[in-house]
Amino acid sequence: MAREIKALTIEHYDDIIRVWSDAGLPFKPNGRESRAMVAAEMSRAFCRYYGLFDNGRLIGVSIANYDGRRGWINRLAIDPDYRGRGLAHELMTACEDFLHTFGEILVCALIEEDNTPSMACFDNKGYVCMREITYWSKRDRPDL
Ligand SMILES: CC(C)(COP(=O)(O)OP(=O)(O)OC[C@H]1O[C@@H](n2cnc3c(N)ncnc32)[C@H](O)[C@@H]1OP(=O)(O)O)[C@@H](O)C(=O)NCCC(=O)NCCS
Repeated sequence: MAREIKALTIEHYDDIIRVWSDAGLPFKPNGRESRAMVAAEMSRAFCRYYGLFDNGRLIGVSIANYDGRRGWINRLAIDPDYRGRGLAHELMTACEDFLHTFGEILVCALIEEDNTPSMACFDNKGYVCMREITYWSKRDRPDL
């Protein structure tokens, strides 16, 4: 099986959406995951989308984003047929390597509290959960 991890471009947009959908990861097609918003993010030097390919087919996605202070791993997803093989870890490593090009920075992720596989993934990779922190956001419109 020929597997490789590559930086994604907007040409991969439909496949990215397929992977998120198949993974059961909700996304905002009329908001921050619209084609235009994804294209804009991809054009920024501090943001990179990574894709994991199996024989040319996209089977995993993750986003690495440096906010100028911390690094973030977002939207990590692996095709259900490929889970439990450490592939998420490979994508996380690609994200971490990219984020560390910005210096010795903290790398973080937001995970819903019932997402056991994702928490197991980050735990195995040495991440520590701070349960006393809550997530707050402000939206100009509901589907952003
Ligand atoms: C989270 C996700 C990316 C992990 O992908 P993966 O390639 O299977 O991950 P890995 O094989 O690298 O490691 C998964 C870990 O979770 C564990 N795991 C898998 N399914 C699990 C489950 N249902 N309950 C508990 N642990 C589980 C695995 O055993 C493994 O831990 P281990 O190494 O101690 O055995 C994948 O489950 C996914 O795409 N989920 C849907 C999208 C999502 O929720 N993304 C995260 C957003 S924060």
